[in-house]
Amino acid sequence: MAVRRLDPEQPPRFDFTPENAAWAHATIANYPPGKQASAVIPLLWRAQEQNGGWTSEPAMRVIADMLGMAYIRVYEIATFYTMFQLSPVGKVAHVQVCGTTPCMLRGSGALIEVCKRRIAEHPHELSADGKFSWEEVECLGSCANAPMVEIWSDTYEDLTADSFSALLDGFAKGVPPKPGSQTGRTASCPAGGPTTLTDPTLYDGSGVGAWQKRFIEAAAALAPAPPAPPLAAAAPKPPQINPGAAALIANSGLVPELEARGRAGGAAMPVKELEALKAQAKAGLLPGAQMPPIAAESQVSGDVVPEKPTLLAAPRDGKADELGLIWGVADKLEAKMNALGVWHFDQIAAWTPAHVAWFEDAMEGFKGRIARDKWIEQCKKLAGGWRPQGTVGERPKG
Ligand code: FES
Repeated sequence: MAVRRLDPEQPPRFDFTPENAAWAHATIANYPPGKQASAVIPLLWRAQEQNGGWTSEPAMRVIADMLGMAYIRVYEIATFYTMFQLSPVGKVAHVQVCGTTPCMLRGSGALIEVCKRRIAEHPHELSADGKFSWEEVECLGSCANAPMVEIWSDTYEDLTADSFSALLDGFAKGVPPKPGSQTGRTASCPAGGPTTLTDPTLYDGSGVGAWQKRFIEAAAALAPAPPAPPLAAAAPKPPQINPGAAALIANSGLVPELEARGRAGGAAMPVKELEALKAQAKAGLLPGAQMPPIAAESQVSGDVVPEKPTLLAAPRDGKADELGLIWGVADKLEAKMNALGVWHFDQIAAWTPAHVAWFEDAMEGFKGRIARDKWIEQCKKLAGGWRPQGTVGERPKG
C-alpha cells in the first residue's frame, strides 16, 4: 500500500453547502457533550462526497474547527483510513483493489494489471480522460468472495481479469453492474451451488415429514434387538401387604367394600389404593381407624408406614420448650410444630421412625430432614438440659 500523504495541490478553502452544514450540525448533536469529536468520520465522509470524491486539507481544518479538535488529529484520521481519498480521483470510478492475502491468492494481481493497462500505470493517477483512478488497499472484508474491488460505496466480488474489465466498461458507459458477486452466487455460498440441504422436499412443504421418516428409519436400524421372551412365563407374584397396613385396612371399615370389589382375603392391593387409604387415615377420615403400632422396619413400597406421635393441645404447665434450639428449626417452623401439637423436646426425643414419617408427611416437603439434622439425638440431649454453646439464656435469631 502506498504511503498516504496530503496532495501537494490543495484548494484555497472548503465550505460545507448550507444543506450539508445543517446535516453536519445535526450529526454533531447526536453525540453526548464532550464526545463531539466522534462525529469526525461522518463529517469527513460528507465533505469527501461534496468535494467530488476526495478530502482536501481545508476540509479537514473546517471539520477540526467544528469539532474543537487539533488539526493534526483530523489529519491522522483522514490519512489512516483508505476510505478517505487525499488526492483528486476519477470522476466516474475510483477503483480500490484489495491486495491482501485471500484476494492476492485468488487473483488480485490480475486485477491490478487491468488497472495499470486500462486506467493508469500508477495508483492515484488519473486516467487520460480523468474518469478513472485506482489504488491497492488492504482487506475490505469480502475475503470469502475474493478477489474483489470497491468502487465508491459498493463492492464487486468474485472477479476475474475479464469480468473486471467488463465492469470497467459498464462504468464507462454509465451502466455499472450490480454490486456483489459477479459470478451470480448468493452471498458467499459455495461457488458451484449449495452442497448441503439440497433435498427439494425441504422447500416444498413436505420436507419435515420426509426428514422425520428418514430419522425414524435410521433410529430403528440402530436400535438394539428386543430381548427374547422367556420360554415359560412365570405367573406374576402379587405384592404382599405388610401387617401394619393390613391392620389399617381392617380397622378402617373398608374391608366389606374391598371384599365386594374382590380385593380382600390376601389379594394384592394396588399401591396407589393403599397410599390413598394411608392419606385418609392420616387425615382422620377413616371411621375408627386406629393404626396399630408398626415396627420401624415394617415398610410398604419402601416407606415406613406413618404413625401419629403423641401430640398435645397445649404445652405442659403452659410452658413450651424452646424448639428453636434444635439445629435447623427457626421461628416459622417452631410455630408450625406447635400448631401440630409438638411443644417439648421429650416429645420429639421419643419419636419412632413411623412418628418421623407422620411428622414429615404433615409438614410437607420435609422428607429426610429430621434424620439429616439429627433432631432426635438433639432432642434427647436438650430434654436432659443440654444447651448449644452460646445460647444459654438467649436464643440466637433464626
Ligand atoms: S482479503 Fe480481500 S477482501 Fe479480505
